[in-house]
Amino acid sequence: MNAKIPLTYAIFVNHHLIKIIPMSYDKSVSDHYLHGNLLNAIEAALPALGKTTTTVTIADLAPVDEFHIGGRQATDHLLAQLNFSEHANLLDVGCGLGGAARYIASQFNNSVTGIDLAQEYIDTGNALCRWLKLENKISLVQGSALDMPFNNNTFDGGYMLHVGMNIEDKATLFAQIHRVLKPGATFAVYDIMRQSDGELTYPVPWATTSSTSKLATSEQYQQMLTQAGFTLIKATNRHDFSVDFFNQLRAKIAADDGPPPLGLHTLMQQSAAQKVKNMVANIGKGIIAPVEMIVQKP
Ligand SMILES: C[S@@+](CC[C@H](N)C(=O)[O-])C[C@H]1O[C@@H](n2cnc3c(N)ncnc32)[C@H](O)[C@@H]1O
Repeated sequence: MNAKIPLTYAIFVNHHLIKIIPMSYDKSVSDHYLHGNLLNAIEAALPALGKTTTTVTIADLAPVDEFHIGGRQATDHLLAQLNFSEHANLLDVGCGLGGAARYIASQFNNSVTGIDLAQEYIDTGNALCRWLKLENKISLVQGSALDMPFNNNTFDGGYMLHVGMNIEDKATLFAQIHRVLKPGATFAVYDIMRQSDGELTYPVPWATTSSTSKLATSEQYQQMLTQAGFTLIKATNRHDFSVDFFNQLRAKIAADDGPPPLGLHTLMQQSAAQKVKNMVANIGKGIIAPVEMIVQKP
């Protein structure tokens, strides 16, 4: 369960503590994801792939820019169940670096708008769009999914990949998503959901402590999506896929004698191994699992 740890930050001048200021929840979440030099870190890995910023491909970037369990494989699994090929204008909620947005826009020739709290992810993601010459198809903007700067009935469809774990007020989240989608639009959620009671081991990729981890059960997701006005089309528990994915990843890293040039370690740096290890252990104990939910706005 989530312990109530106050979120604060301290101001020091000449090593003297001047003030302790309450930190906004959104800042705590975006600080968790802050790298500090992310675009340069990605660019620095390109020579090891034999690539430059002009020759790098969407596939090269997938290990770093699809920040959810199963990466591109998981995105493909979700996409195979959607009808985005017919959709012109899509929404990516909590887009991160926009890897899924670039992949989907290039597959189906549609436009994707992404929104994310983390300014560094938005700036880095927009730079990656320029590398791939996709900046005319994709627009990534900084903002909160709880207060999206988009008009009602704007998008033909959308998706949210591993974002709800940071958002407590899922009723407002789904009401906002419902508001900006057009009637008939399909929306896909792929989040880590709580499967049973039990303390999570931290840090995990989405939170350093329990203070910014806001997991909900599949039943709670379904209830809140329905309350927001969506019709549930399909829900799929991806527990077994996630276990297989991490087993294969571990075997590949061992066989290759280390991680590839680009990967989640590029995003999470030194904490990557511990965060992934804890997440895998939490999945192994049956406390959490990734779940897909596909819904439609009637
Ligand atoms: C684990 S990452 C997933 C990023 C991306 N969806 C992907 O799969 O690559 C979670 C993302 O959710 C974003 N996020 C969390 N709370 C948010 C909110 N209230 N509004 C917008 N973005 C949010 C974070 O900034 C972070 O980029």
